[in-house]
Formats: sequence, C-alpha cells, structure tokens
Amino acid sequence: MSLNTNSWNRLRYTLYLPIYDLIADKIFRKYRKRSVELLNAKPDDTILILGAGTGLDLPYLQGYPNLTAIDITPGMISKLKQRAEKLGIPVQAHVMNGQQLDFAAYSFDAVIAHLILAVIPDPIACIKEVERVLKPEGTVMVFDKFLPEGQQPSILRRFFNIIASALFSDINRSIETIVGHTSLSIELNEPAAFNGTFRLVRLRKLKP
Ligand SMILES: C[S@@+](CC[C@H](N)C(=O)[O-])C[C@H]1O[C@@H](n2cnc3c(N)ncnc32)[C@H](O)[C@@H]1O
Repeated sequence: MSLNTNSWNRLRYTLYLPIYDLIADKIFRKYRKRSVELLNAKPDDTILILGAGTGLDLPYLQGYPNLTAIDITPGMISKLKQRAEKLGIPVQAHVMNGQQLDFAAYSFDAVIAHLILAVIPDPIACIKEVERVLKPEGTVMVFDKFLPEGQQPSILRRFFNIIASALFSDINRSIETIVGHTSLSIELNEPAAFNGTFRLVRLRKLKP
C-alpha cells in the first residue's frame, strides 16, 4: 500500500504552502529558466503547466499569452493566480487532477511538467494524459529527479522511499520507463540540479 495518494498530496501541499517558495524558488530558478529556453515555444503557442504549484515558472513565461495552469491543490492555484496578477501574465488556472485532464485531445502545443512526475501518485496515467492533450509535434519539458538510466534501486533505497515519497517525492522513478508507456520520444536528457540527480528532459510527440 502506498501513502502517495491524491488526497494526501492535496493535504500536505496545503500544509507546505506557507514555506513552499522558500524551498523551491531560489535553488531551481536557473533550471526553470533553462527549461523554458529548451521548450523553444512560439509566442502564440498554447502551453499547459501541469502540477503548476504556486506558479514559480511564470516569471520565465512572460510573452506567452496562451497559458493554462492546473494543480490538484486549491491553495496552490490561489497563490498562482495572485502571482500571475502581480506579474501581469494572463493564465487560465484550474484545480484539476493531472492523471485525468479535463481538456480535449490535441489542446496544447507544449506542456511544462516541473517537479510533478516524481510526485504524482500515477506518473504513467499522467504522461498518457500529457500525450493525449498534446498536438502532433508538440513538446514537453520535464524537470525532476529520476534514477539514472538502467539503474535499479537498492533495498535500502526502496525502504527510504516509503518516507521520501510520502513527504517529499519518489526517488525511485525512471523517466525512460514512464515515457516508455507512450509513443512520446525523448529528444534530450541533460543533467540539472544536485549533480544531475535532477534532469531536464525534452519529449516530442511525433506526427501520427
Ligand atoms: C513539488 S510541487 C511542484 C510545483 C511546481 N510545478 C513547481 O515546479 O514548483 C508538486 C505539485 O504537484 C501537485 N500535485 C500533486 N498531485 C497532483 C495531481 N494528481 N494532479 C495535479 N497536481 C498534483 C501538488 O499540489 C504540488 O503543487
């Protein structure tokens, strides 16, 4: 049985809200900026920010007027809306489950998935939804911590992950395995924070 459920995440992220930006802003700034550069979106592209949190990616998305943000935690979405207003950035923001998106197929040119695939209870359901809502040739930027390719977690690491996945995020996920459940292709996988424990990964939806 896993402690990592949507209800638990909604509760814990509501509790983390007052200190979230202190932890996730400064240390990840340069990777958020790099990720948006690698996304290489056109100004009129429709962009979905999945599991958007308090909107720490928004400062790097000025000049993109077709932004949509979703998150399962209502408090996160409220804070994101305040940030968007302060920055003068138009964002359609919704409380929504990233494993079951309430958008039609082919709705977005690009998806930003920062610090969500290692948090969400079912990353495979999530990436399949990303694939569904993405237009052909659409791009996804993932920023998160993943196991090195081909590495299996040790028993100790599996044990520690019971606590890590409930309080922080899963430390035993493989981006290759997650993406392998879709027909998205991994175009780029570059080391990011903490000596490459965190990765910046660009995915592409190929033409059918
Ligand atoms: C580590 S935070 C990352 C937030 C933001 N992407 C960032 O980079 O700062 C994880 C976020 O995922 C959200 N989340 C967890 N499960 C989710 C789900 N099933 N659907 C949508 N969002 C979810 C949480 O509410 C939280 O805001």
